[in-house]
Amino acid sequence: MPSDVPPRSGSPLPTAGFPARRLRRLRRTPALRRLVAETRLTPDDLVAPLFVADGLAEPHPVASLPGVVQHTTASLAAEVRRLAGLGVPGVILFPLPRPEHKDPEGSAALRRDGITARALGAVRDAVGDEVVLLADCCLDEFTDHGHCGLVDPTTGDVDNDATVERYAELAVLQADAGADVVAPSGMMDGQVAAIRAALDGTGHTSTAVLAYAAKYASALYGPFREAAGVTIAGSGDRRGYQQDWHNRREALAEVALDVAEGADMVMVKPALTCLDVLVDVRAAVDVPVAAYHVSGEYAMVKAAAERGWIDGPAVALEQITAVKRAGADLVLTYFAGELAETLGG
Ligand code: PBG
Repeated sequence: MPSDVPPRSGSPLPTAGFPARRLRRLRRTPALRRLVAETRLTPDDLVAPLFVADGLAEPHPVASLPGVVQHTTASLAAEVRRLAGLGVPGVILFPLPRPEHKDPEGSAALRRDGITARALGAVRDAVGDEVVLLADCCLDEFTDHGHCGLVDPTTGDVDNDATVERYAELAVLQADAGADVVAPSGMMDGQVAAIRAALDGTGHTSTAVLAYAAKYASALYGPFREAAGVTIAGSGDRRGYQQDWHNRREALAEVALDVAEGADMVMVKPALTCLDVLVDVRAAVDVPVAAYHVSGEYAMVKAAAERGWIDGPAVALEQITAVKRAGADLVLTYFAGELAETLGG
C-alpha cells in the first residue's frame, strides 16, 4: 500500500506503515487470526492424569475435581479408550492402594500383583500402543505418613538415598507392566540416574524417563491429595524436598542435573505460576519440556465456572494455550478430555 494514502476520515493516524494499524488489520476476521496465530493447541499436546484405586466397585467422584474420578481398572481402560478416540496421545496413571495397605515404607507400591501392575496391564490391553502410558513414580500414595519416600525416624526427614532405591525398583515394575515412560515426581536427588541405571540394567533401555525436574512445593496440589487419598502426617509439607516457589534460577539447576542424569524429558510444575520458569527451561534445554497444570489450577476454573463467574471452557483453553506459548511441548492437564473434544470437533 502506498504510504501517501490519506488517513481514514476523522483519524489522526496514518493508515499505512504504522505498526499499530498493521497489527489491528491482522485481527479483523477469525480466518485472519487463524492464519497468523503463533501458537495452536491440539489434542496432540495433551496428557490426561488418571487415578485408579484398588478395591473399588465403581468409579468414585473426586469432589474437589469436578469431572475427575478414582477409576476401577475396568472404567480406567474404558476412559483411556475414549481419550484415544479423541486423539489424546498420552495418559499418566496414579494408582492408589487400599487405605489399609498403606505403611511407612509404601511397600504396596512394589507388590508385583498390585494395583500399579494391574492398571497398567489393563490399559495396555485396551489400547495397545495407541496411547503413551506414563506412570507417576512416587510413593506418597502408598505411605501412611503421606511423604514421597521413606522417613528417617531419627531426623523426621525423608531419607533421600533409601527412597531413590525404592523408586528404581518401582520404575522397573512399571516398565515390566507396560509403562512407556516413568515419571519420578518425588524430587529426590539422584532419582533420575538411579532409575535410568535400573531400567537399563533390566533390559528396559527403551523406557523413557520424564523427570518432574522443577517441581515446586505448591499449595495448588490440594485437590490432588483428595483424589489420591494422601494426607501428610502432622500437618507436614514437602518443602524439604520440593522447590521453594520464591526461586526461579534454581529450576535451571534442577533441570540441568536431571538432563545430565539421563532424563528424556523434563517437567515444570505447577504450570501457570511457573510460566517464567517454563520460558527459561525451554531456552536452556533441547529435550521436550512438559508442564503440569495441576489439580488446584483445574479446580479454580471449575469452581468459578460453576458459579457462572467465568466461561470455564474458554478459560481452560486460554490457560493451557498460554502454557504452550510459554514453552511447553506437552501439557498434563485434567482438562485433556474436554479440550480434545473442543479442539478435535
Ligand atoms: C506426587 C505427586 C503430586 C502431584 C503429582 N504427583 C502431589 C504432591 O507432590 O504433593 C500433584 C498433581 C496435582 O496437584 O494435580 N506423587
